[in-house]
Amino acid sequence: MAYKDVYEGWKADPEGFWMEQARAIDWVKPPSKALFAENAPLYEWYKDAQVNTCWNAVDRHVEAGNGDRVAIIHDSPVTNTVHKITYAELQTRVASLAGALRAKGVTKGDRVIIYMPMVPEAIEAMLACVRLGAIHSVVFGGFAAHELAVRIDDCTPKAIIAGSCGIEPGRVVHYKPLVDAAIEQATHKPEFCVIFQREQQVAGLIPGRDHDWHGFQHGVEPAECVPVSGDHPAYILYTSGTTGQPKGVIRPTAGHLVALNWTMKNVYNVDPGDVFWAASDVGWVVGHSYICYAPLIHGNTTVVFEGKPVGTPDAGTFWRVIQDHNVRSFFTAPTAFRAIKREDPKGEFRAKYDLTCLRALYLAGERADPDTIIWAQDLLKVPVIDHWWQTETGWPIAANPLGLDPQPVKIGSPSVALPGWDVQILDEAGHPQAPGTLGAIAVKLPLPPGTLPTLWNAEERYRKSYLTHFPGYYETGDAGMIDEDGYLYIMARTDDVINVAGHRLSTGAMEEVLAGHPDVAECAVIGVTDELKGQLPMGFLCLTKGVDRPHADIVKECVKLVRDQIGPVAAFKLALVVDRLPKTRSGKILRATMVKIADGQDFKMPATIDDPAILDEIREALQTIGYAK
Ligand code: COA
Ligand code: AMP
Repeated sequence: MAYKDVYEGWKADPEGFWMEQARAIDWVKPPSKALFAENAPLYEWYKDAQVNTCWNAVDRHVEAGNGDRVAIIHDSPVTNTVHKITYAELQTRVASLAGALRAKGVTKGDRVIIYMPMVPEAIEAMLACVRLGAIHSVVFGGFAAHELAVRIDDCTPKAIIAGSCGIEPGRVVHYKPLVDAAIEQATHKPEFCVIFQREQQVAGLIPGRDHDWHGFQHGVEPAECVPVSGDHPAYILYTSGTTGQPKGVIRPTAGHLVALNWTMKNVYNVDPGDVFWAASDVGWVVGHSYICYAPLIHGNTTVVFEGKPVGTPDAGTFWRVIQDHNVRSFFTAPTAFRAIKREDPKGEFRAKYDLTCLRALYLAGERADPDTIIWAQDLLKVPVIDHWWQTETGWPIAANPLGLDPQPVKIGSPSVALPGWDVQILDEAGHPQAPGTLGAIAVKLPLPPGTLPTLWNAEERYRKSYLTHFPGYYETGDAGMIDEDGYLYIMARTDDVINVAGHRLSTGAMEEVLAGHPDVAECAVIGVTDELKGQLPMGFLCLTKGVDRPHADIVKECVKLVRDQIGPVAAFKLALVVDRLPKTRSGKILRATMVKIADGQDFKMPATIDDPAILDEIREALQTIGYAK
């Protein structure tokens, strides 16, 4: 069917469209209708249904006779192992883990934090939670103990499931001490921990609190799937906002099932049984949606890859995985391709592998720059599909719907709005803009199924962050435009969120950490352009009067502070001491102007600037570290 017809069909009858898509899901009690708008502008989907996510992702495939189909391929170049798990095995493993959690008192609605590396057990832990109706919150392994503690206090988990360690190139990351430190720091104390011991590092267990993953499953009854209502939270995933307090995005069970299932064929063009690979991490939304849930709900084989695009062992790793596992559709972040291109600009590794199985490459998580897209197109000779979405949405807002009706690719655009999304460009006053005009990107309410209904424990923040600025719309936080053909262009964030190697980070959170250094009186963090990671955080430090220690020492301490408090994923390595920060007359730091100076771009002198001379001081300081050229 033509994309335009499907999109218009959805627009004319959203209720009919989403009830039709819901037929692909196994319901314990089917929904009587799709949209529940009683609490508008807060909306819910399929609220009166009863359903279980794990049943739809695992058990129903076994029931349908596909138990021998491979559900998960764990390919781990960092441990030199490849391991396959069928749907039938997955069902047994997940039911057993869920049974053990239930025996320890975990029930519907309880929260469970998962802090694990890229091993199949991470997926099993997620599925065991949703099997019981428990609400998981996966925390990315690159976050430090403090970030884990903040999440423990916000979602007050009954249990934490963790790996003993993660493996980064050249070092083993000991997770268990980070878990211990986080529990120590947090006010809320979980009742117990389950530790998955890896041979690279066997962690010490605290008697009475910690349980060994295998040991605690001995002799327990496997758990059946527990039906939950359609609006029950499947999980909470924390993402960066403008402050140090992350936002707990809630994923509602039923809408999540329906929407993700729809995308697998229509966007990613795979049929049940095909191998699908998203090279991300379970700690991010891409990992939740497209390593764990969508491929399994749709009956695909998912690849859990524990490695990096380069260095594990070389820039050909991705091509080997695609060849060895017969990957049909492949999804990663543009930064991964930039890393490969840097190591292997001529694509010599690619020639060593047979990639005829691959039908398309999907990029998201950050802006896909034209150079990277063209390089990937030339190398792989398959369509390269940029698509745009967010943790909040859980699935693509705009994409090229390859499995539905491929649209011409326009490089620099993630293509067109998918059914469910009425995307508009608004000016500051909230007026829709003509094609080709830049503005804030907003989505007309209601958002489609699977998107966040609110934030965990923070409804007011949800309203304020997303719904208040443009009444009747969801504010995405991105700015851009739509062209005459309806193609979207995503240009920049409108807030202080930056994107480092496809990871969404808050400059505000880093500023809060830097402000905690005893010698720092005031600070600002901006995102400067980086060839590999897209952006890198850079800190500007104004010192307390009278401090006359060497600046290099203070910078070093600040870098360590951010690494210790937020984690290595922040990639905070650039900082410099300045006398003053450029501000408006009302005292707002001119971060956007500082970015332009650092990147060596032209800029318009802000009309409200207090003292233009400070910009020259900033430029000179930046030049001493090789920026602002
Ligand atoms: N546990 C512990 N530490 C982690 C971690 C994890 N799960 N993931 C990353 N880190 C650490 C890294 O070791 C690195 O530490 P270092 O400062 O000691 O070197 C730091 O966090 C930054 O990691 P990363 O962003 O991965 O940068 P990198 O320099 O190691 O690698 C790329 C660069 C481009 C190869 C890498 O970012 C990449 O593969 N990106 C793919 C994008 C992606 O998966 N995005 C997810 C959203 S789709
Ligand atoms: P996250 O919530 O971590 O997925 O980050 C979402 C943000 O990443 C978006 O709001 C955008 O700023 C950015 N982003 C994601 N995908 C794209 C894309 N295809 N093009 C440009 N920016 C993107």
